Amino acid sequence: MNKVIIAIDGQASTGKSTQAKKIAVNLDFDYRDSGAYYRAITYYLLNNNINYDLIVSQEIFDQINIEQTYNEGFFRIYLNDIDITDRIRGHRVSLNVSNYAKKPEIRKFVYDQLRKSAELNSLVVDGRDIGTVVFPNANFKFFLIAEPRIRAERRHKQINDKSVNVDVIEKEIKLRDKIDSTREIAPLRKADDAYKIDVSNLTIEEVYKKMLKKVKSD
Ligand code: DC
Repeated sequence: MNKVIIAIDGQASTGKSTQAKKIAVNLDFDYRDSGAYYRAITYYLLNNNINYDLIVSQEIFDQINIEQTYNEGFFRIYLNDIDITDRIRGHRVSLNVSNYAKKPEIRKFVYDQLRKSAELNSLVVDGRDIGTVVFPNANFKFFLIAEPRIRAERRHKQINDKSVNVDVIEKEIKLRDKIDSTREIAPLRKADDAYKIDVSNLTIEEVYKKMLKKVKSD
């Protein structure tokens, strides 16, 4: 049977990974978090003092083995068999990942990983350039957007530290939108054939039903 690819791209904090996981469970597909690959590579390179302004050689990539799993509601990512799931969300990686994610050789490495996964199983993949660059022939493409203020309020609710102001989060989100959509390599852009959903006034469940309906009706 042919493998099916569902690409979920969109702005930061629009619930892409939440939706991707729910859909993967419903359809019994594998799930891949493309951002987590960029984070894992960033973690490795930072730990090995390889600055983002250096070219990453094939010899270095040969030392990096990344595995992702999603089982019973738990996503895990392993770097050379070590579970680094929590470490890739830390401040140091978050601060540096966009610089490493710009590098063509790192993007190629991630694309190869994702495409190899797609040879084995049907996949739901979330990211920024999945429907435009990584899988332009994906069977289904979604593009999620939402008002910056609403995304900031949702993120504020998730953060434990309530001293962080919603206005500050909103500013950061706007800046990230700008960086993601104006960067030269693989910018955030809706694929012409992607189904756009503005999730501003929709619950997680409402977005999920819309997406599933689209997948099941085609
Ligand atoms: O989605 P995230 O915050 O975990 O993504 C981490 C970084 O990787 C972020 O700087 C955007 C970048 N990224 C990318 O360039 N392309 C993707 N397909 C996914 C993430």
